Amino acid sequence: MTIPTLAAEVLPKRVFSGVQPSGALHLGNYLGALVKFVALQNQMQCLFCVVDLHAITAWQDPKALAAQTREIAAAYIAAGVDPNKAIIFPQSAVGEHAQLAWIFNCVARLGWLDRMTQFKEKSGKHKERASVGLYTYPVLQAADILLYKATHVPVGEDQKQHLELTRDIAAKFNHDFEAPGFFPLIEPLIAGPGARVMSLRDGTVKMSKSDPSDQSRINLTDDADVIAAKIRRAKTDPLPLPESIEDLKDRPEADNLVGLFAALAGETPAQVLQRYAGQGFGQSFKPALANALVQTLAPFRAEMRRLLSDPAQIDHILQEGAQKARAIAAPILEETKRIVGFGPG
Ligand code: TRP
Repeated sequence: MTIPTLAAEVLPKRVFSGVQPSGALHLGNYLGALVKFVALQNQMQCLFCVVDLHAITAWQDPKALAAQTREIAAAYIAAGVDPNKAIIFPQSAVGEHAQLAWIFNCVARLGWLDRMTQFKEKSGKHKERASVGLYTYPVLQAADILLYKATHVPVGEDQKQHLELTRDIAAKFNHDFEAPGFFPLIEPLIAGPGARVMSLRDGTVKMSKSDPSDQSRINLTDDADVIAAKIRRAKTDPLPLPESIEDLKDRPEADNLVGLFAALAGETPAQVLQRYAGQGFGQSFKPALANALVQTLAPFRAEMRRLLSDPAQIDHILQEGAQKARAIAAPILEETKRIVGFGPG
């Protein structure tokens, strides 16, 4: 469904995004999410959530969950998100998310959710064994965003369908309850170099924490030796690096490595090719790529370690963030409840 976008003047610009505390972060999360968040915090009000309610749609060890939540918060900060500028908080600390999600469960249609490809992928062959939460996951995601009337949502390409659902829920709510413009119709922020980091073993699939081969990804905890080894073994094709980016088209692995290099160096892929065209990958491109990765990730890792050595400080940041988030969310939920017709109390 195509819906006209909200005029920029109507609402203040506000960014919302979230990362699940459900396992180790990798280079795809770093370039595709964290680096983008840092840039946005100076442009608009930003809320960066650690989406622990989403995480438990698949089993999470309760002993590990709180630590993983702190790790994501530390990763935001280590990447350069400033808790004095952006609001960093755990989703479960703001009860309004779950309350709005319930209302949206009654707005979204089964047919809409039946089309969600991520549920199909995650539930696999045995969908009857998936949690009900996994099925309504995108409804909770819509609640995350609309609870703050966020206008801009930076996410990876794989989240596009969930953002379209968010727009559909906003539009149906506004229509059914005769509250035109109450919830904004959001803008996804998807593009950009490094937005899609592919597996080092197969340039046609996304770098992912669920890939059984650790060689397929650079974990943000990998040290310099591990990074160098993974890049050395990264799949390429037998051809040398081409002269022009058009020649990367049917070479997914080459395309991915050049794109990565460009994102890390702050250059365009064409500029990278200018330097390495005609050479084999192993000659100097791969060592230079490994070096660029180490240069970027080593300070990040050191900062993560420093932050995680003081969990009380992170908890304090998360508590303050939750308070600030609640201050925005509470009046919007109150108004929503009034619109729905919930009585006094
Ligand atoms: N589903 C998102 C992901 O897996 C995480 C997420 C949850 C999110 N709520 C969100 C992203 C709201 C953006 C906005 O990447």
